[in-house]
Amino acid sequence: MTSETVRSYDRDAAAYVARTAAVPDSVRAALEQLADRLGPGARVIEIGSGGGRDALLMEQLGLAVRRTDVTPAFVALLREQGHTCDHLDPLVDDLSSLDGPYDAVWANASLLHVARDDLATVLGHLAAVTRTGGLLCMSLKEGDGEGWSTHGTINGPRHFTYWQAAAVEAVVRRAGWGDVVVRQGLGGDRGETWLELWAVRDGVSP
Ligand SMILES: C[S@@+](CC[C@H](N)C(=O)[O-])C[C@H]1O[C@@H](n2cnc3c(N)ncnc32)[C@H](O)[C@@H]1O
Repeated sequence: MTSETVRSYDRDAAAYVARTAAVPDSVRAALEQLADRLGPGARVIEIGSGGGRDALLMEQLGLAVRRTDVTPAFVALLREQGHTCDHLDPLVDDLSSLDGPYDAVWANASLLHVARDDLATVLGHLAAVTRTGGLLCMSLKEGDGEGWSTHGTINGPRHFTYWQAAAVEAVVRRAGWGDVVVRQGLGGDRGETWLELWAVRDGVSP
């Protein structure tokens, strides 16, 4: 089922890409750290590639990226640019055809659209396509509860799940990941705080 959030991205994909073209310093630093930890040629699956900004930087840093998105317009846009991009909803789709295991999962500002009760399932699916010792890096908005936003990079309504560090860390651990580190940072133009979470795939199946 296509969510209202995905329909909003789908209607406004080009505007989203234009408004988020510059790589924020925090994202660049995280991608450089990812590339350093993995080494050249490592394979990364990206969840929510959007306009493909981060994938291009990952490739410049020597990583091999599998682009995916749940929003058809982003998938179409990346394919028009000549990239392979899978239409993927990590909650319900079969990830076993995606040529895993990967060395890392990169999910910048995408899993904040997953419902709280579904995040463990999504992270378990991602653990299943990541090698033991592989990395997860994702960013989420910090806060309590959930809400709809109609401002920001697109006009339509988007649903956000807000997280506190301890709560998301517990979900990540339950889903097959260990060595969890959560960093808090400022982001956006409304003074909101973000959580950047790193974790390592442990050897236990979720
Ligand atoms: C704020 S954008 C971030 C895009 C890109 N990662 C970036 O940093 O520019 C959110 C992304 O999450 C995707 N998305 C929306 N709902 C999702 C869901 N339920 N699960 C995974 N990704 C989702 C959207 O299609 C979009 O690409």
